[in-house]
Amino acid sequence: MVWWKEGVIYQIYPRSFLDSNGDGIGDLDGIRRKLDHLAELGVAGMWISPFFKSPMKDFGYDVADYCDVDPMFGTLDDYDRLLAEAHARDLKVMIDWVPNHSSDQHHWFQEACKSRDNPYRDHYIWRDKKPDGGVPNNWYSVFGGSAWEWHEPTQQYYLHSYLKEQPDLDWRNPVVEQAMLNTLRFWLDRGTDGFRIDVIHRIAKHPDLLDNPVLDEDSAYFGQEHRHDENHPDIHGYLKRIRAVLDEYDDRAMVGEVYLFDPAEAGAYLGDGDELHLAFNFSFLCAAWSGKAFADEVAQAEKSTPATGWPTYVLSNHDQPRHASRYTFGDDAPDDDRKAKLLAAMLITLRGTPFIYYGEEIGLRNGHVPEDRVQDPVYWSLGPMAGRDPERTPMPWGPGPHGGFTTGTPWLPVDASAATRNVDAQDKDPHSVLHFYRALIALRRARPSLSMGTHRTQAVNESLFIYRREADGETTSVVLNFGDTPTHLPDPLQGAPVLLSSHPDPDPTRLAPYEARIVGG
Ligand code: NOJ
Repeated sequence: MVWWKEGVIYQIYPRSFLDSNGDGIGDLDGIRRKLDHLAELGVAGMWISPFFKSPMKDFGYDVADYCDVDPMFGTLDDYDRLLAEAHARDLKVMIDWVPNHSSDQHHWFQEACKSRDNPYRDHYIWRDKKPDGGVPNNWYSVFGGSAWEWHEPTQQYYLHSYLKEQPDLDWRNPVVEQAMLNTLRFWLDRGTDGFRIDVIHRIAKHPDLLDNPVLDEDSAYFGQEHRHDENHPDIHGYLKRIRAVLDEYDDRAMVGEVYLFDPAEAGAYLGDGDELHLAFNFSFLCAAWSGKAFADEVAQAEKSTPATGWPTYVLSNHDQPRHASRYTFGDDAPDDDRKAKLLAAMLITLRGTPFIYYGEEIGLRNGHVPEDRVQDPVYWSLGPMAGRDPERTPMPWGPGPHGGFTTGTPWLPVDASAATRNVDAQDKDPHSVLHFYRALIALRRARPSLSMGTHRTQAVNESLFIYRREADGETTSVVLNFGDTPTHLPDPLQGAPVLLSSHPDPDPTRLAPYEARIVGG
């Protein structure tokens, strides 16, 4: 099996998965202890968000050493043990790789700051102030404010696309490229199965750092066309060389965070099968609640994935509100899981690699984080709505104190819902979201039409989305009722055997509100 195409990948935010040493922060040994949970879920592997040495200004996306584990997460030995035990369960391990920027605590940057002629100076992007004393160009940081930070001791600005503590590396310097490729080899040599690549669409900028066109003076970063600070064509050359490193090893894969709004441009990052293996498609993160809205996104993904490529789908991640919260509105009861199950059925049965985010397998909602417990700096720079803590609250494993996540004080509060919404409780309930995810993934594994088959949309309207998957003479149809009223099941599907339904007692002729039904034929 081609694990990164046929299988399901599970994202772990390590700070929030399981704390094995009582310091309130999840760690590698915590992940190792929960490998059976992943094996039972049936996923092919995991992607672990950063656990490298870091001052944690952006919770690990500010890397101070690409080749070491931060002590709060454990040691390299812990990583090797986790990897070995994952492999023993036939689980692949992908790790995060953050090539666009390092931490300001990385020794390259520390050296670069010492003087303009330091050998590491050109690992980063430095510029003089303008003759009028202003910043070198009009670029903004994604996290707010100018993308330039003044460095008083050496009298130049450096570029940072994110926090000022995350200086951008200069990939145009071949020494940087080689050093970064070697960090990949470091993890590949240990047996790591692949990488999730952070903001790959940003690693090359226009060489002359030209101003971006301004569309709306008042909207800062969002008011610019990002013509020159991202998506530079040179990135494709870097990616081909990154891919060549992975191809030095057997059966490895990488998925890139290509945060571009044009799906065709994101598709281009797959190259001719010689760049990324997979590119994230974030379109579901903003889709409205309707059959048509999701069907349109699927049509777009099908159209913009090159013939040599393969689509991906994701409903939640560590940067966006959890989908069970996004789509819980109006009169929805907080424990109504019908929408979560409907979306799960769609995610796992589409043609493409599904990425699931820890907690979504129990229908986890955003956690409540009071202002005095806020951790994410983006809450303060871009405003409370942009803060990412609610989707990062700890995994509730059981009903006990702190949901069984830690014996100490959790770094983010465990939501009060953990008393009833937790892994243990759902394990005991055959109608839980957890059991439904397990059944869906088992079905995807058992049916080639679901894991590898073609996709054809059969019917779409505001409430219905019906599609058919086919492979090797096997056909599977998926019928999704986004509506809050029952609806007629199309005649040709009425006689087909029900393989799985989100409803405990599916009616042969009609779909219940929010029902997802998967039928053979
Ligand atoms: C994208 C990551 O997903 C996000 O969490 C991080 O803050 C930025 N890249 C910067 O690395």
